[in-house]
Amino acid sequence: MPRGLFITIEGLDGSGKTTQIRRLAAWLRDFAPHGDPIVTRQPGGTPTGDRIRALVLDSRSTGLAPMAEMALMFADRVQAIAEVIQPALTEGKIVLCDRFTDSTEAYQGGGRQLGSAPVLELHRLVCSNLQPDLTLLLLPSLESSLERARRRNQRDIAKTGHDENRFEQEKDAFYSRVYQKYREIAAREPARVVLIEGDLSIEDVHEKIVEAVARRLPVQRSV
Ligand code: TYD
Repeated sequence: MPRGLFITIEGLDGSGKTTQIRRLAAWLRDFAPHGDPIVTRQPGGTPTGDRIRALVLDSRSTGLAPMAEMALMFADRVQAIAEVIQPALTEGKIVLCDRFTDSTEAYQGGGRQLGSAPVLELHRLVCSNLQPDLTLLLLPSLESSLERARRRNQRDIAKTGHDENRFEQEKDAFYSRVYQKYREIAAREPARVVLIEGDLSIEDVHEKIVEAVARRLPVQRSV
């Protein structure tokens, strides 16, 4: 079956994913033969997914059991695959997805300490084990990610009266487990995951991303 190119971007809150995904999409658009990429995010990206996103990220959703949280992330993902990702890949498009199952492994598996096994098992069961062709993992130092994420959250609270992101209230120990799990995933799957580490400038990260994506384009497009 012809298939486009499925690229995911991963990292901690405040790692600069959103800026980089925007820059990468613009670069791909200028790279005319590949057409407009489909840009999406998780949780969210479909009308049902947006409702799930509101529920899981709202800090007023207190007492959510970790397994329930994981199941909601997968409910969102299954819907996004059916409605957005798989149809675009089947049409041969490039899909850029801000977070995918690595986030569930890092946050629920690592952060919430459910372990990797249930996440990987559920992924096989409900997502037909759909794997990205390339995952860009942005891992600036834990300290600078946290500082940026918390600053952003304070701004959101000032604007809307409540914070959108329950996760950003988590303690440093939670984020350090998320960080470790991301490193573990990168070490386990070096062919898929490109790790971009350190406190680099936006420009330097963009360059590394373009280099990794460009390497995959001709191979993927020629099949
Ligand atoms: P978002 O506002 O998209 O954060 P960021 O811009 O930092 O990516 O919020 C997504 C939050 O949801 C983020 O804190 C990570 C969390 N998350 C999980 O815990 N598990 C998941 O499977 C996914 C997709 C996200």
